Amino acid sequence: MSKDVIVCNGCCCGNTGKGHPEVPIKFLTEEWNKYGLNEHVKLRISKCLGPCSMHNVSILRTEESQQWLGNLSQKEHYESIVEWARNVAKNKNNYDIPNFLLSHKFERFEEVVIRD
Ligand code: FES
Repeated sequence: MSKDVIVCNGCCCGNTGKGHPEVPIKFLTEEWNKYGLNEHVKLRISKCLGPCSMHNVSILRTEESQQWLGNLSQKEHYESIVEWARNVAKNKNNYDIPNFLLSHKFERFEEVVIRD
């Protein structure tokens, strides 16, 4: 299994009509292209991942772990996700998430089903 970042942009996450912050898909795609991250860490934009109450949700997934993040509301949150992917691309065993995201981690034990 490869490493990937799964960013939810589903029925709740990113749904401004429900009062949730927009998911900056264009920004993420541009950053992934700028740093050539896709060959190391795939960027996947997904429909609902399940825990809608944690909007906006993303997962940092590697062979060893999946780290769920919720309540992502600022551009800095997504910049930190780019930082994580760049660190993984540079140092394949460094899966530590940036400090800025630590308080956004939550546990989820169900298997991830990506809907894109
Ligand atoms: S819409 Fe993102 S978890 Fe449901």
